[in-house]
Amino acid sequence: MADDFPPGTVWLVGAGPGDPELLSRKAERLLAAAEIVFYDALVGEEILALAPKAQLVSVGKRSGRHSKDQSTIDGLIVAAASLGRRVVRLKGGDPSVFGRVAEELTACAEHGIPVRICPGITAASAAAASGLASLTLRGAARQLTFLTAHAKAGEALVHDWDALARAKGTLAIYMGRAAAPSIARELIAAGRDPATPVMVAVNVSLPTERVLRGRLDALSFLVRTIGQDDPTVLLIGEAVGARGSVTEDRMIALAAIPSSPAHR
Ligand SMILES: C[S@@+](CC[C@H](N)C(=O)[O-])C[C@H]1O[C@@H](n2cnc3c(N)ncnc32)[C@H](O)[C@@H]1O
Repeated sequence: MADDFPPGTVWLVGAGPGDPELLSRKAERLLAAAEIVFYDALVGEEILALAPKAQLVSVGKRSGRHSKDQSTIDGLIVAAASLGRRVVRLKGGDPSVFGRVAEELTACAEHGIPVRICPGITAASAAAASGLASLTLRGAARQLTFLTAHAKAGEALVHDWDALARAKGTLAIYMGRAAAPSIARELIAAGRDPATPVMVAVNVSLPTERVLRGRLDALSFLVRTIGQDDPTVLLIGEAVGARGSVTEDRMIALAAIPSSPAHR
């Protein structure tokens, strides 16, 4: 057993986007050593199978339906580590991207529990890879912004749309399927070119993966066929349109775009 996982330690581990081969070797080693694993809904069985010695505890969240609230999860992690167990808190993608890591770090610190982070491949990176695209583009996309489209229940989605529309760069929008129509509306109203390329990546790296392409003013059509439990990341910007070839998916996506002026 490596020295970095003594009893009573918590590792916040990134599971990547779903494909077990996209897990880091370090994550695999930590899972093999774990005695208890608290995992999110997006973590699949093949990855959980890498923790054969561990008690597996689902603390999953899906489409805003929380099976355990964050303070309960914090309490479970702290309690398990306080009992001297080797704890893995396994999160989809990278733990530090919309992963509630700050709360878990704070809870551990408050109880004197040693805690470390093992990074993972975040959904935006995996989506770009699947779509054979770049997230940045020399001269055209000098910045990359990660955004969440998840708003608290009953609250509007608040972002500085003017700044986002002005920025020469790529927007990687997590949890954005439901809000896609309003995201497109806000960006276009704030001055972003309606023809800006978009890529919609669903279930990235899994056998059910789909990558759809189109333009910003057709984003609401692109997301129509996506189920509410299918994790989806939206990539918006010139960089994701810069490709050498047109895939079958792209042709399907383009065919789905109505030609009426309202949607041009
Ligand atoms: C709570 S956030 C966690 C993000 C995660 N920490 C990461 O770095 O990818 C969950 C969102 O990530 C995105 N996501 C995660 N896995 C994905 C996948 N395999 N395909 C597409 N989007 C994914 C979706 O937007 C999903 O709603």
